[in-house]
Amino acid sequence: MQTPGPIGVFDSGYGGLTVLKEIVRALPEYDYIYLGDNARAPYGNRSFETVYRYTLECVKWFFSQNCSLVILACNTASAKALRTIQQKDLPVIAPDKRVLGVIRPTTEKIGEYSGSKSVGILATNGTVSSNSYPIEIHKFFPEVKVYQEACPMWVPLVENNEYQSHAADHFIKKNIQEIFKKGNDIDVILLACTHYPLLKDKIEKYLPVGVRLLSQGEIVADSLKDYLKRHPEIEDRCSKTGRRSFYTTDSVTDFNEHAAKFFGEEIIAGHVDL
Ligand code: DGL
Repeated sequence: MQTPGPIGVFDSGYGGLTVLKEIVRALPEYDYIYLGDNARAPYGNRSFETVYRYTLECVKWFFSQNCSLVILACNTASAKALRTIQQKDLPVIAPDKRVLGVIRPTTEKIGEYSGSKSVGILATNGTVSSNSYPIEIHKFFPEVKVYQEACPMWVPLVENNEYQSHAADHFIKKNIQEIFKKGNDIDVILLACTHYPLLKDKIEKYLPVGVRLLSQGEIVADSLKDYLKRHPEIEDRCSKTGRRSFYTTDSVTDFNEHAAKFFGEEIIAGHVDL
């Protein structure tokens, strides 16, 4: 049998760290390896083909690090690359390994949070144009109305450390107003991009009273816990010494400086060339 290895957690940049933080809180005993493809972030406005190619390269890198399970903690990669990787690539390159995304676990739950049966999805252009959220939500909650709003400026604001600026206020206010114009009975807003939790305080400022704001971290962590229980053949191949390592495809100095804000702890990362 293959020796156990860490659980891989992937994002185009820093956003996946908001998910990893909750996963580590829920499942501290496992080993984790994080890769941010910062050199090529953001993915949000890139084509299907490009997001797929970049994500597959990163997944292969995780496999070379002895991961049997990889979580795409990026909605854009989950929307545009996950299905092809699961259906076309894995059976050929690694039939015994698993790659999971963040959209399915979120859509399985979201309908439970809405009393008005009307939810708003804030995401990147790529995630919105893939229509993955409406399609997946309707599988579990056909009665729920789904409104989407692409917020293409939000990831660049976060990646460039401008998330506390007046510019951030401008774009957040604008996008929130737009989504409530589309659906004025929305009572749950999902941050369907793993970068957005850093904008939470500002988003809350512009939300109508009584609207619930959901981030994905805890939902994904709960779902992973459940997955590991249901899949002992994968769980056995996940090592448990509580170790965490972090890698970026870009500057390690920049990554170490910014990543702590997303993860809530100091990080010392290594560099990967893909
Ligand atoms: N955190 C990624 C997501 O959840 C950001 C996408 C990007 O790189 O634009 O979609």
